[in-house]
Amino acid sequence: MKREALSNSHSDKLFEQVYEFLLDRIRREEWRAHEKLPSIRTLALELKVHRLTVFKAFQLLKQNRHVYVKDKSGYYVQPSSLLPVESMDDPIVSAYVHKSHLSEIHQVQATYQFSKALIDPNLLPNLYFSEYVKKVFDLYPKVLGTYSTTQGDQELREALCSYYISRYHFHLSPDELMITSGSQEAIDLVARVLVKPRDVVLIERPTYSPAIDVFRRQGANMIPIEITPHGYDLEQVERLMQKEKPRLFYLNPTFHNPTGYTVPAEQRKRLVELAAKYQCLIVEDDPCRDIYFGDEPPLPFFSYDTAGYVIYLRSFSKYIAPGLSIATVACRPSIMKYLIQAKSLSDSGAPLLNQKIFLHYFFSERMQQHLAKLRIALAIRREIMEEELSMTDWEWTSPPGGFNLWVKLPDSVPIESLLGKCIEQSITFVPGAICDPLRELSSWIRISYSYLNEQQLRDGLQRLVRTVRLLDRKE
Ligand SMILES: Cc1ncc(COP(=O)(O)O)c(C=O)c1O
Repeated sequence: MKREALSNSHSDKLFEQVYEFLLDRIRREEWRAHEKLPSIRTLALELKVHRLTVFKAFQLLKQNRHVYVKDKSGYYVQPSSLLPVESMDDPIVSAYVHKSHLSEIHQVQATYQFSKALIDPNLLPNLYFSEYVKKVFDLYPKVLGTYSTTQGDQELREALCSYYISRYHFHLSPDELMITSGSQEAIDLVARVLVKPRDVVLIERPTYSPAIDVFRRQGANMIPIEITPHGYDLEQVERLMQKEKPRLFYLNPTFHNPTGYTVPAEQRKRLVELAAKYQCLIVEDDPCRDIYFGDEPPLPFFSYDTAGYVIYLRSFSKYIAPGLSIATVACRPSIMKYLIQAKSLSDSGAPLLNQKIFLHYFFSERMQQHLAKLRIALAIRREIMEEELSMTDWEWTSPPGGFNLWVKLPDSVPIESLLGKCIEQSITFVPGAICDPLRELSSWIRISYSYLNEQQLRDGLQRLVRTVRLLDRKE
């Protein structure tokens, strides 16, 4: 058994990783009730950790009543820690599966889904999609008869490469682009390839919740960097880069999810310099760049990168065609070759049909008109949300783009019971704590104005405000 066995842990501390690993084995009944666990020495050798680390893990097992000590002869399995199978997830599977907190919320059926930062499907040019599908079958009659390459369709990579060069002045070749099934896959691949247990990862606070889940699964030691409407505290970032030697900084600097903030251009340039100076990769996740309500946002970090320290993840699923689930990763060949290897272990490339449909739709004039209309429709929905909330004492910064309002509720609202009460009222939202690597920020919520239509927004918000008021201790 190797030390990597611990990498599935949720914890940053090694003894907690050992604790979780042993607890999983107890729950899978590798050792039965009242059976003696292997000695500290044996486990330390097996897991390639110090004996003191195993000792601390045993202490925690004892403290949590999973084991007991008998006659100083060793540690024995406490029968109560073998939960009946019905009361927990499948004991074998659950040892390897990791939670996505956000997807659990998305699975709740509700009329007013403020938790979904997707666009209302009615805002897409649905009627015209069949034209593009037909065109693709006419142009490539054998499209269903073959795979794409793992890296992605050459024609699409060439087209997107030229697009990035002309729009954002990227230095890029098609070989430095990969097509993935959404940027969630891209985050996962990047984390698998680059992050090993206990590597330091800088991450914004708050941030996109599934990214926290992915880096946690890798066993990363996450250090939060506050994001504000003015960006980051760059002195703090530099100090941390110098002292902690992070492997990467995962950021979502343009109409950030969940806050809507955008990091200013000067900071982008400076951060790219810092990344090169301290050899810390920047993983720039950019899924909402086109959804601006005023000025266009500053250029991506990738535009400033000459030394190869930025990995640029760009999703097109959110507002072009969510059903096609197309995103790209742009990075230098030294990283790309590992990403391709990692992707080939999970699939043989994003579906070719999706890539071809996307190619013909994305570069059409209709798509550009669609984007212009979408920006107007979403700006109206943001205004409706802000108008409905204007009579409350909730606090937020009006977002200049994106899909969400990041709202601070009064401290007198008992947040622990709020989501449950809202679900009873058929309302969902994203609790701030799951967007926080420290699991605090619990008086914040993310509510999206993009998914519900105008009437549903008004009705749902009135219901949300009523529900919060009923719970508020000061009302
Ligand atoms: C910041 C961020 N990254 C990644 C994703 C996932 O995007 P995709 O749907 O392309 O997987 C989202 C979706 O909400 C997001 O907001």
